[in-house]
This record gives sequence, structure tokens and C-alpha cells, in this order.
Amino acid sequence: MRKIYVFDTTLRDGEQSPGVSLTTEEKVEIAIQLQKLGIDRIEAGFAAASPGEIESIRAVSRQVKNATLLSLARCHVKDIDAVVEALRDAEDPCLHLVLATSPIHREHKLHMDKAKILETAASAIRYGRKFFSKVEFSAEDASRTEIDFLCEVTKMAIDAGACVVNLPDTVGFATPEQFGNMFKMIKSSVPGIEKIQLSTHCHDDLGMATANTLAAIANGVDQFEGTINGIGERAGNTCLEEVALALETRSDYYGAKTSLNLSEIYRTSRMVSKLTGMSVPGNKAIVGVNAFAHESGIHQDGMLKNRSTYEIITPETIGASSSKLVLGKHSGRHAFKEKLIDLGYELNEEQLNIAFSKFKVLADRKKNILSEDIRALLDENMAEGPKPLTLDNIQVSYGNKTMPTAAVRIMKENGDMVEEAAVGNGSVDAVYQAIAKATGIIAELEDYTIHSVTHGTDAQGEVHVVLRQGEASASGRGVSTDIIEASAKAYLEAMNRLISRQDREKRREGNIVIY
Ligand code: KIV
Ligand code: ZN
Repeated sequence: MRKIYVFDTTLRDGEQSPGVSLTTEEKVEIAIQLQKLGIDRIEAGFAAASPGEIESIRAVSRQVKNATLLSLARCHVKDIDAVVEALRDAEDPCLHLVLATSPIHREHKLHMDKAKILETAASAIRYGRKFFSKVEFSAEDASRTEIDFLCEVTKMAIDAGACVVNLPDTVGFATPEQFGNMFKMIKSSVPGIEKIQLSTHCHDDLGMATANTLAAIANGVDQFEGTINGIGERAGNTCLEEVALALETRSDYYGAKTSLNLSEIYRTSRMVSKLTGMSVPGNKAIVGVNAFAHESGIHQDGMLKNRSTYEIITPETIGASSSKLVLGKHSGRHAFKEKLIDLGYELNEEQLNIAFSKFKVLADRKKNILSEDIRALLDENMAEGPKPLTLDNIQVSYGNKTMPTAAVRIMKENGDMVEEAAVGNGSVDAVYQAIAKATGIIAELEDYTIHSVTHGTDAQGEVHVVLRQGEASASGRGVSTDIIEASAKAYLEAMNRLISRQDREKRREGNIVIY
């Protein structure tokens, strides 16, 4: 089996998803989990974006011991210097350089001709090599670049000292056959290609990122780049978990595998969803809640006779144990702790105490507590980071012939309480109006989704919202057996992110320019 290296860019390209802005603590938490997943290469950010970004990358680099750590840079001395600073403490650092090569980018964005592109990239790689023994070069918009010129670019990168050459489908334009052929040509015609690793990086604008990535792998690339849950710019990046599972399940066809710990996939997916506030669609391949659900009678019959009739991957493979009654009202602390270990959570004493008391509150509201409930509880209550606003109390009055009214009491970070009441065209609207009045923060509700964590009328509801304030947007998630409470929590979490981001941005110097 050929080993395929996995390059995760959840913390860089993934963070470019609209509404997503991770704190340093959240980036560190994700990076630690990515290591458990067995990711080979972790891209922690775009160092030149701001001094705060450099600090985040440095914080991540101090925790990453078992993976190569990268930061992106344009082919500018100042960007490379920022990466030198950001990766100072990394055990296995790698500079990731990018320069666009396609005619559209050359003419309209860079105003450079082919010779200038070659010269700029080569001198940046040489400069980078003074500080880093590993340099990856990405030819942005490679899939829309003339193939002859792409061969020249690849040769230049090899000669200048890059150890990985990445050819992205930056705008998700390629088709699998075309994209596969591009790599076939590069492999067969660039002198010295055997000295480096070839990499692919796809976007999902036409829904072909996974197919294009697999086509690249079938045509000899050594590394693929992607994000957890496929988050990222516009329609997102390649879903890392989809490619890993496709290689695992169809190793007969691809003859290639990653060395990921697949049983960490589900947990990583949930963590990224929780910290970015981006919900995973129910029908999403591999990690969606319905990915292993069998609804129709014929399918259920087949499953009962032999699971392989309709199941090509088991939930256990990705660490998603199926819904089981795990605990109830009378379960003790010891049983709770054992269950957490079983589900893969490692909590310190203080976290365990908090989680156990939350579990007891939930057990009073919900009779049967399933694995999913425990995960939702833990994901919510262990969330780190500043909490400028916390929901203290909520009261709603609803009747189908009266205007819904809500009263909320919110605690500020300094312990002060603010209280307000408002009416709305529905209960959730009334709650959101009351929160806006109490906090004085006006934000537009851009997206609101709700789904039930498990089945049954007493199931917990999980709400995801996206709030917008001018240019800034932020997402939030809330879980409760009551959907009004879950809605309020999600709204406040998104507000907290907006507030924390504004605080961070006030502290930042310089402009944010991100690829
Ligand atoms: O999409 C892209 O081309 C990128 C590069 C920086 C690798 O994200
Ligand atoms: Zn990208």
C-alpha cells in the first residue's frame, strides 16, 4: 500500500469560512485533536495576517509534537519573515509558499508575466530555504494554468529547493479526469520530479473536491490537503474524512492508504463543528447524523440479515458508536466517568465535576440518556474561551392568539446582570429581541438551523446560528432539551464570538490579507 500523507488546513483555509474565527485556545484544542487523528502535516495559519495570528501559530507550535507544522506565506520577504517568527518553536517546521500561476491571476491580480512568476517564486523559495529545511510551494490556480507553464513552474520549484509541490484546484473548476491527467503529465514530464512529493489541494465549488482529490491520488500524488467537515472558503475545501474513508474502503482500487487513526474522525468532526459553530448537514458523507441511519423497510430488513448489505463503513470505524442507552438518572459519578472514557473524553477532576452536575440536570429532564446526549453535553459545557455574556434566566410566554413575549437575564463577564423583556413574531424572535435590548448589541440573524440530537419528544435540540454585524459574522451553537433555551444559548455564543473578535481586532496591527 502506498502511503498518502494528509495535510490538514482546517486552521488556515478552514478558518476562512464565512463567520468562522477561532481563538488561540480553540486552535490549540483542534491541533491537539488533529494529532490524535494522526494528521501528518498541520497548517496552523497565515502568519502575515497579523501579530495575533503569529501568536496563535506559536501557541499551536508548542503543542504539536507528532506532525509537521506549516504556515502559509506569499512570495514576499515580509510574509516569510512572519513565518520564521511564527514557527520559531516548532519541532518540525515547514514554510508553505504560494504564488498564482494561471493566466487570469497573472494578468488581473499579480500583473506579472511568466518570467516574473518564475523569478519571484524561485527567489522566495531560496530565501525560505535559508530558514527552513522544508519548503512546500503551491502554484495557486494550477488547474487553470497552461500545462507547459505548470511543468516549468514545478521544475523551477524543485530546482530552487522545495520538497513538496502542491498543485491546487483553487476555484473548484477542474473535472476529475482533467485533474488526474494534469498530474499524470507533471509526473511523466518534469525532470527531477522523483526528488519531491507532489500534493493536491481542492475546493468544492462544483461539488467535485473529493472526486478531484481521489483522481490526483490515482495519478500518483503523495499528499492531499483538506479540512475537517470540508469547511473553508466559499463552498469549502476537500473533506479530509471523505478522502481518508474512500481510500480505506476502496484500497482494492486505489492501492493507497493514509495512516490516520480513523476512530478519531467522528470526535474531530464534532469538535470542529462545535468550535467553528458550523453545523454538519445530516446527510453529509461519513460524519452526518444520518450517515449510518437506515430508514426504509427493505434496507432495515437487509441490515438485520447482514449489515454489509447496506453498510460499507461501520460507525465504529470512525468512532461513532450507535445510539445506545448509556446512563440514566440513577447512574453514579463512577459510571459517568467510565462512559466518558469509553466515548474518548479525558477530563480533569474539575471538568468532570462540572460535567457530572450538568449530566444530573439533564437526567432530570430526559429519561434515556444516549451517547449522543453525552457528547452534546460535553461539547457544550467544556467549551473554553472567554464568555462576555452568559444566559442566567429566560422566561417565555406563548399563545397562538397572543404576541409571544420573552424576558431574559444575562450575566456579563464582570458579574453584572442585565434584564430585559420584548415581544416578537415568534418565541425565538421574542428571545432574540430581548437579548438585543439587554445587551445593546444589534446583529442580523443570518442563519438559524435546528436539529434533534437523538430521537423522541424529550430529545435535546441543537441550534446553530450565524450573526452578522457589518463586515463581521460569527456562528454559535446551543444545546438543550428546550429549543428556546438552545436558541438563546446559540445566539449568545455567536454574540460572544463577535465581541471577542472585535476585542482581538482592536489589538491587532496591520491589515488582514488572506488567500
Ligand atoms: O486554494 C488554494 O490555492 C490555496 C493555496 C494557498 C494552497 O489555499
Ligand atoms: Zn485553498
